[in-house]
Amino acid sequence: MTKSKNIVVLTGAGISAESGIRTFRDTGGLWEDHSIEEVATPQGYAANPELVLSFYNARRAQLSTVEPNPAHFALAELEKGLMERGGYLTIVTQNVDDLHERGGAQNIIHMHGELLSQWCRACDQKFKSDAAFTLMSPCPKCEVVGKVRPDIVWFGEMPYRMDTIEATILNCDQFVSIGTSGAVYPAAGYVQMARGLGKQTLEINLERSEGSHFFLETRLGKAGDLVPVWVDEVLGG
Ligand code: OAD
Repeated sequence: MTKSKNIVVLTGAGISAESGIRTFRDTGGLWEDHSIEEVATPQGYAANPELVLSFYNARRAQLSTVEPNPAHFALAELEKGLMERGGYLTIVTQNVDDLHERGGAQNIIHMHGELLSQWCRACDQKFKSDAAFTLMSPCPKCEVVGKVRPDIVWFGEMPYRMDTIEATILNCDQFVSIGTSGAVYPAAGYVQMARGLGKQTLEINLERSEGSHFFLETRLGKAGDLVPVWVDEVLGG
């Protein structure tokens, strides 16, 4: 095995593209049909909650129609392999789908929230649900109606577990970015943090991301092809 034992992988929409989930900024991406302001900001939700709930209801419903792909499975294999060798893998994902979990990985940080988690703004509790929500839906915890919003981090809100993510990057040997355009901070800035700390850095993406020049190595192609090859190198090398 190479000397990298502790690895942080940052994933974005590109890792789920081959599973059939649309990315955001590619041709045909989600932000072509909807503006970020409309469906991914607190102001958009305040202006038209029905539209926002139905946008996330549709995305949540899609989860039952898609499956993890070889990239998700390979990362689960990497997690297991590193643990057996005394190391660890942390997957920091910007994705709100559950494909890393269904691929078998366990140590996952959903920094932008999760489609299968809901947040009641009346009692401030979060709960798991794959149901569709409307303005008539009661919170299963406090029973207040119409206050359940998607547990998704919108633009202008603070991503989750940033302290843990930064501590994990500080302690890792290698930082790897997979399937993200590098357009959204703070995630896009983690490579600069890793480089500043002298870590190995690798980007795996269909095309060069906006922060591509910060990576020591870039591999261009589909995650489903390239991630299993890289995982074999790490575990077999
Ligand atoms: P983007 O849609 O911005 O970028 C997806 C990246 O994946 C692009 O660089 C593609 O080239 C690449 N890609 C597409 N198919 C691929 C494949 N099969 N294999 C490898 N790479 C592939 O998605 P993100 O970077 O994840 O945030 O977007 C970041 C955040 O912006 C999202 O979490 C979301 C969005 O607005 C919020 O909603 C808060």
